[in-house]
Amino acid sequence: MRKIVLFLIVLFSSIILYSCKTNPTVLNTTFTSEKTSSQTTVTTNPQEIKQKVEQYINNMTLEQKVGQMMMPEKNSVTLQEIRSYNIGTVLSGAGQNPVNTPYIVWADIYNNLQKNALLSETKIPLLYGIDAVHGNNAVYGATLFPHNIGLGAANDADLMYRIGEVTAEEMAKTGVNWNFSPTVAVVQNIQWGRTYESFGENPEIHTNLVEKYVQGLQQFDRVSTAKHFIGDGGTDLRDHTGGDWSIDQGNVSIPFSELSRIHLPGYIEAIESGVSSVMISYSSFYGIKMHQNKELITDLLKEELGFDGIVVSDYDAIKQIPNADYYHQLVLAVNAGIDVLMEPHTWKTAYNNIIQAVSNGDIPIERINDAVSRILTVKYKHNIFANPLVEKGTDKLSTEEHKAVAREAVRKSLVLLKNDNDLLPLEKNSNVLLLGPGANNLILQNGGWTVRWQGPHENDNIEGTSILSGFQNNVLNSGGNIYTNLSDASLASVAVVVLAETPYAEGQGDNGYLELEYGPNNEGSHTSHIDNIKALNEAKMTGLPIVVILLSGRPLLVTDYIDEWDGFIAAWLPGTEGGNGIADVIFGDYDFTGKLPITWPKDNTQFAHSVMMEDYNPLNYQYPYGYGLKYND
Ligand code: BGC
Repeated sequence: MRKIVLFLIVLFSSIILYSCKTNPTVLNTTFTSEKTSSQTTVTTNPQEIKQKVEQYINNMTLEQKVGQMMMPEKNSVTLQEIRSYNIGTVLSGAGQNPVNTPYIVWADIYNNLQKNALLSETKIPLLYGIDAVHGNNAVYGATLFPHNIGLGAANDADLMYRIGEVTAEEMAKTGVNWNFSPTVAVVQNIQWGRTYESFGENPEIHTNLVEKYVQGLQQFDRVSTAKHFIGDGGTDLRDHTGGDWSIDQGNVSIPFSELSRIHLPGYIEAIESGVSSVMISYSSFYGIKMHQNKELITDLLKEELGFDGIVVSDYDAIKQIPNADYYHQLVLAVNAGIDVLMEPHTWKTAYNNIIQAVSNGDIPIERINDAVSRILTVKYKHNIFANPLVEKGTDKLSTEEHKAVAREAVRKSLVLLKNDNDLLPLEKNSNVLLLGPGANNLILQNGGWTVRWQGPHENDNIEGTSILSGFQNNVLNSGGNIYTNLSDASLASVAVVVLAETPYAEGQGDNGYLELEYGPNNEGSHTSHIDNIKALNEAKMTGLPIVVILLSGRPLLVTDYIDEWDGFIAAWLPGTEGGNGIADVIFGDYDFTGKLPITWPKDNTQFAHSVMMEDYNPLNYQYPYGYGLKYND
């Protein structure tokens, strides 16, 4: 009898073992959801996380692991596919739906995706990525901060912590848990369309700001991303009239010592601050696309610098690896050390190719295990397992406290470049003639990466204070007036002209002219740039003293005009609280504290001059790096 029982046990065990090998769904029973409605498991102990992750790695099939490495665009994947492919991450690329939509709609979308991930075989919750690069900028009603170039001018670490916190809180209300920010690119050439995403030309500013921002974001369990590794701000110089995409995504050919001196410190700081992901750059280093650069990704970033989080590719960037078909592009990228593949619309082909490549021996299984371990560890570290779903709020996304942080950021970001005869500050009872395309325009105030990739459309609804309303809030109760018609010039004592750069993002903003009358893309065709010159001419005709406020992502050439201006303020792209923040300083409630994070050139031969050059001479420029006046200077 005992023999028969033993025989039956052996027989049943063999059947189970065999079916586990051949039928992955049997493994289903191995995975239990970490979170049920009645119970929350928060795992913070690194040793415990390590054990849990190892358990997953030991039990998951290759298919399930590769599913975790995929990042489809959320509109390119169905809920059924989230479940059946065990998808690990999704993204909403800039301007991809839902656009200009209240956060509760986002929360519904997020919960729906997450519930389906929890119904997959592995029951592993999702990471959902977004570019909340100056506040949660894709969502209607968010508090939008100055873009990074302005925050570099402010250079205030404590402020950055609070900006990280507010951004995280406003992301948390949507559920979205991965932020592709901060950009730690160190811009060395202001013709680059991403200049405003950089804190400035000196890595010193980055090392001051990155730690606090990352901590502010991640303490609310929003995964932060240092990007784009490495050298994106230092691509080779092109003919200065190169135009769109002639600088962005280019080649970097500087000695490794220069790459380390200028472009690495921001990453070291981010890693020390516990940043949980790093995004790879579209650019190349000595002709090798960064997405295939094993020496820099695996040997330097992961091994030498000890980065233990997720390395994510940039949007469709793997397809740019030259001289290889898609299969080999994927093999090169994964073997170089990329863990999550932002292949938003071709994720299914990528998935199949990677599984094939592992079977063919082209990608070692250890590489896949390393990638999935990193992904799961980040999910544990940020409590995504414990709290996968978001409770839908009923309040507004922004709050008065959040707006106060943004308004403070605007005040601190402003740089006073000229103030002849102490024309500024203006008295609150002044009569001001307010002109120019940026005077009452939230689109120009916010710039690219706002609602949509290249900036808002005319009918996008943005909540915020324009410069006009900020000025009115100050003078109307103090006996002054704001006039916006030239015909009222005789009633005014000063003309304030708000000039602006037309919004742009990435390579579409590459611009070899950088003059007040030329826009990005088709130079000269943008109304706002034509309006810049028109407004300046009008102001000149009035004979009033002129103060110019420039809304721009980078310096524009002012050499031919500056002598006609009495005052000049660089206001960068100040965001939704721009109007009140600028008014706070211009009407004297606060002094200027901002300093130029970037050299202001005199002419087009100086666009790629930076304080990082050995022979930098501050006397050569319109305004050198670090320049900025105060009222009593
Ligand atoms: C940009 C990244 C961004 C990604 C996702 C890319 O075009 O280079 O900075 O995070 O899109 O929107």
